[in-house]
Amino acid sequence: MRMRPCFSSVLIHPFIMVVVLLLFLLLDHRLAFGHPPLTRLEPFELGHERTIALPEIPSRSVSIKTLNVDPPIFAIENFLLPNECQHIIRLAQNAGLETSQAGEPVNDDVTMEDSDYEEAWKAWDTDGDAQLTRAEIVDGMREFTQTVLTEDDVERMFNELGMDENGDGTLDFDEFKNANINDMDGFLDDVEESRPVFKTRYSRQAWLNQGGQDVDVVLETLRERLLHVTGLPRVVVETSESLQVVHYDHRGHYHCHMDSDHYSPSDNMTCCHFDRRDETLGNGRRCALCRYLTLLYYLNDVTLGGATAFPFAHANATFQDSGPEFQRLCNLSAQCDSGVVVTPKMGTAVLWYSHRLDDGGQIGEIDLRTYHGGCDVLDGEKWIANNWIDVDATENFYTRSERSDSEYDTQTHSEL
Ligand code: OGA
Ligand code: FE2
Repeated sequence: MRMRPCFSSVLIHPFIMVVVLLLFLLLDHRLAFGHPPLTRLEPFELGHERTIALPEIPSRSVSIKTLNVDPPIFAIENFLLPNECQHIIRLAQNAGLETSQAGEPVNDDVTMEDSDYEEAWKAWDTDGDAQLTRAEIVDGMREFTQTVLTEDDVERMFNELGMDENGDGTLDFDEFKNANINDMDGFLDDVEESRPVFKTRYSRQAWLNQGGQDVDVVLETLRERLLHVTGLPRVVVETSESLQVVHYDHRGHYHCHMDSDHYSPSDNMTCCHFDRRDETLGNGRRCALCRYLTLLYYLNDVTLGGATAFPFAHANATFQDSGPEFQRLCNLSAQCDSGVVVTPKMGTAVLWYSHRLDDGGQIGEIDLRTYHGGCDVLDGEKWIANNWIDVDATENFYTRSERSDSEYDTQTHSEL
């Protein structure tokens, strides 16, 4: 009869020892020199629901419902209990809310080629009479810059910036070309500031730490729930941003935007944390802020309006984020019924991924179909919170959420 080798003798067999050692080294290498692979929830099919128990209260389960398959968007009802929502609102109020900023940073050196001007002129001069009237400028501004002006504003802009050189009340092609784009940007910013209801983002916000010493227990629990539901590596979640709480008043909104940078691995870019965004690294690669996923929580019931809309969720994978049709659907004050529209409900969480995964399970191209925003609050107010899960490929992990408030300089934090 043959003797079965005992388990310990297998383990100490020199060949097996070497293989085990190599496996350990490989695993360690992966953890030390790259990110552990990211996970992504499988959407299965539209309307699919799965039930999962919450980690800290196994008797309390939640159901994850598929709202869209590709790109995947999920809703999780009762993710937060009403008292947890109220608690988070109170924490934000105590921390103090600040007016939200959004949009691309102003580039002081905007330059346009002749061909760009000709193309723009054709788009603005809709009746093709070689004159831009104030009405055409109002329409063009709404369409191409999402800024809502009146004809009086246009006249003021003509005067203040000296744009209408011959004083005939319209712009011809030369006057259009001579206009200083940066001055115009400044003028539009001032108009938006004076009438926030026309702003891209009309809301206020606060940031709350979710880790470290003295962390609020509800916020810490929330992060554990996120970890459990998304299945992401702990290190990725714990090195992500603090919780952003947002408050919208009547007519508050956030026009369509991406939560993450337009990152493409082939574009000589690397994912970095906020403080290094736009920095150029030693290897010549530029830092992008890569928010892999968003978990957005509704903290109250909105009386009317305030839905979260993904106007391009049904677009094909190659859709481009420019052009009049894009701008039209992006203005969520004007329309709120394209693509996937989620009605706010206290305690519900919405989950989506702003990036695709690459073949190695690492962060990949941005998925423009996840453009989304908050539609106008038509009655009542709206409170939400955002958890953004960031990926930093520079191995320079640090836990921003564990830094103290005084260390955290809101001015350097880029918002999208
Ligand atoms: C955001 C956002 C949507 C909403 O804050 O980034 O997309 O419904 N909000 O408020
Ligand atoms: Fe967003």
